[in-house]
Amino acid sequence: MAQNMSVEICGVRLKNPVMTASGTFGSGVEFSEFLDLNRLGAVVTKGVALVPWEGNPVPRICETPSGMLNAIGLQNPGVAVFAKRDLKFLEEELSRDQAGEGTKVVVNVCGHSEEEYIGCVEKLSDEPRADLLEINISCPNVREGGIAFGTDPKGVERITSAVRKAARQPVIMKLSPNVTSISEIAKAAEAGGADALSLINTLTGMKIDVERRTFALANRTGGLSGPAIHPVAVRMVYECAQAVKIPIIGMGGIRTAEDALEMIMAGATAVSVGTASFHDQTTVLSVIDGIEGFLERHQVSDIRDLIGCVR
Ligand SMILES: Cc1cc2nc3c(=O)[nH]c(=O)nc-3n(C[C@H](O)[C@H](O)[C@H](O)COP(=O)(O)O)c2cc1C
Repeated sequence: MAQNMSVEICGVRLKNPVMTASGTFGSGVEFSEFLDLNRLGAVVTKGVALVPWEGNPVPRICETPSGMLNAIGLQNPGVAVFAKRDLKFLEEELSRDQAGEGTKVVVNVCGHSEEEYIGCVEKLSDEPRADLLEINISCPNVREGGIAFGTDPKGVERITSAVRKAARQPVIMKLSPNVTSISEIAKAAEAGGADALSLINTLTGMKIDVERRTFALANRTGGLSGPAIHPVAVRMVYECAQAVKIPIIGMGGIRTAEDALEMIMAGATAVSVGTASFHDQTTVLSVIDGIEGFLERHQVSDIRDLIGCVR
């Protein structure tokens, strides 16, 4: 029996439900030496903004128990260079069949202001290789003194609807877990017209270097990712799946097929593998193979039968 691994996110078909997590895979250039990108459901690119961002001073990553902290600061070359260099690479690397099917490209977008988000999204509207847009609303909002866009439901609804109007592609809003009620934020994004949600981004944390008696990261705080956050992410995916009707992409600490299946059973239509790719570049493939093996072992003919099966 051949199992169906394909899923649909806002009208876009993914050959399997496994993608990369933004910022942990670049645009796939280095990873393409170790794995065939054409096996993935989608490649999700590192956050890109309207103009280049420098990022934070070093040190900006450190290890923590079962995870890591990063404060890269969304360093990126700006959308013009990104389109010419990264999207061109993906255009060449990813083959499509006659029906235009193949591994999809999700472009992750960041901005300091509503205008910056819209400007970047408008530029990406002209790019045929950008199949879906993922809008990171954990970026610092300069108008509100650096507080992330994604922490207030009214602000989330406003930025979602502004981006939705400007975008040609389906819009996935990427939610921050650093809020009191993630389901309220999810509902606000849905009300603003989001086509899908992805969650979770990193959890704010801090590490002190006791030998040096100072912060381990120059930025003092950083975003916690990796296996340490997985149970928090599963809980949040579950809560959002109960609260909204739009599809959810689950991420946070996925290392194995079992981790991915937890997200799917909690209500995610697709999943992203992030920090685990730093440890083993081929994790994303073992997650795909492991899900396929699970379907076979349990005689499940369609992955879609598992989405949200635990209530
Ligand atoms: C080094 C690093 C850079 C990241 N950069 C981005 C980014 O540019 N945009 C974004 O939306 N998320 C970014 N993230 C968050 C990840 O996409 C993901 O949501 C998070 O790390 C949780 O998944 P994981 O535990 O599998 O890594 C970054 C994470 C890491 C570790």
